[in-house]
Amino acid sequence: MRLVHLALALLVASSVLAHEAPVQAAPPDPKLVEQYRPTEFPDRIVLTWADDPATSQAVTWRTNASAAPQRIEVAVAEDGPGFVGKAKSFAAETEAMTSEISDARYHSVVLRGLNPKTQYVYRVGAGASWSAWHEFTTAADRHEPFSFIYFGDAQNDLKMHWSRVIRRAFRDAPNARFLLHAGDLINRADADLEWAEWHEAGGWMNASIPNVPTPGNHEYTSGRLRRTGDPSSPCPRTACRGWRRRATRSTTRA
Ligand SMILES: [Fe+2]
Repeated sequence: MRLVHLALALLVASSVLAHEAPVQAAPPDPKLVEQYRPTEFPDRIVLTWADDPATSQAVTWRTNASAAPQRIEVAVAEDGPGFVGKAKSFAAETEAMTSEISDARYHSVVLRGLNPKTQYVYRVGAGASWSAWHEFTTAADRHEPFSFIYFGDAQNDLKMHWSRVIRRAFRDAPNARFLLHAGDLINRADADLEWAEWHEAGGWMNASIPNVPTPGNHEYTSGRLRRTGDPSSPCPRTACRGWRRRATRSTTRA
């Protein structure tokens, strides 16, 4: 119940900050563009699911366009660092995405054939440019109680204020099995500087706890969802392309 109370409090808090209609993005600040430009080192690492949470894990990350072909290394976690020598390596699928920040590359792997209720370690990158080793745990393959964190509209002031929300939620529910986002993760569809703040706020938590992101009206660029009122309506290509690449899917068997 404590988690439920927190989630409701967060929902109310974030709704107060929310705007009802998307607005046009202002010209990007050159200093912010420089700050959030991708490099050869992986960033924006985020876990999602594209298949059974007990046996699969999707991983997505970003680099600049000159980064070497990206890979993921994954192993079953151990008490010590001996897993490093046992890790399996898989190539990532890569897609280009241009934004007001840069011409970036988004890389993705879906690990399949994992063992249920098992802690894994992984890192992403290439050459001398690797992420830290991150940890995730697959779901149980049978019913058992679990907790998750529900977020309403993050949407605004992502670095200044929503960062406090997600960090406090994690402190309250450190063993949450996933982070559920109910839409309007950002305010202006495909505003990459806002996504930069969203990723900065989530940080390593996004690389360790799977996200279940749902697009809200602020993730759409044409307003088709609002016009039809049908959440299952096909979303506009301009919105879907960016949405999918930030948490995309490919197939790799571990
Ligand atoms: Fe909203």
